[in-house]
Amino acid sequence: MIFNLENNNINEKYKLMAQTIIPRPIAWVVTEDEGVVNIAPFSYFIGLSSEPATVLISVGHKSDGTSKDTLRNIRKHKRCIICMVEEGSLEPMHFSAKELGANESEAELFDIKTEQMFEGYPPVISGVPCAYVCDFNQEIDLGGGSTIPLVLNVKQIYVNDENITDKERLTISFNPVARIGKSYALLGNEVSAPVMR
Ligand SMILES: Cc1cc2nc3c(=O)[nH]c(=O)nc-3n(C[C@H](O)[C@H](O)[C@H](O)COP(=O)(O)O)c2cc1C
Repeated sequence: MIFNLENNNINEKYKLMAQTIIPRPIAWVVTEDEGVVNIAPFSYFIGLSSEPATVLISVGHKSDGTSKDTLRNIRKHKRCIICMVEEGSLEPMHFSAKELGANESEAELFDIKTEQMFEGYPPVISGVPCAYVCDFNQEIDLGGGSTIPLVLNVKQIYVNDENITDKERLTISFNPVARIGKSYALLGNEVSAPVMR
């Protein structure tokens, strides 16, 4: 079956792509405005480059067409923290996708503990294996549509000491949660790369 995306509505396009670009990592994004800590997950999330260190998240709109709080806060303050998600945080991460008013904090509503780690940036979610300290770089104009991709410069990376399994070789290990359609997946067995001759 071939799906011509010019004829599909936004919901069908989302269904097709979200179930075929899998698994997707989840950026658990923390922003802040006037003391209100905003937390939301984004699975249209990729690493763009290591030099310069940049990532991309794609942000849609609220159901009433207004900007999601994450987008509004990044536009205003040019900063965010991206946390990586492990299985133990699956439930609060999922709940933090609830559409709230701009003055309501997912951290408060869902009792998601955070800690101030980087001066001038939003807090880091407590207990995460890894967090990226990001500055806004640019929005990408896709020439219409309702989603806005944001390029973010990664300024610092926090890795929990417990997840650094070999300091000399800088080996990091954690159990990420990935998005598959509307469900989630955990990583299966790691497979070694074949030896090239
Ligand atoms: C696992 C997961 C991944 C999501 N990925 C995205 C995404 O990539 N882009 C997006 O706009 N919304 C995504 N959402 C929905 C947002 O998290 C949701 O709209 C949230 O309310 C936005 O919050 P904010 O208004 O505080 O920014 C996702 C939700 C879940 C549960």
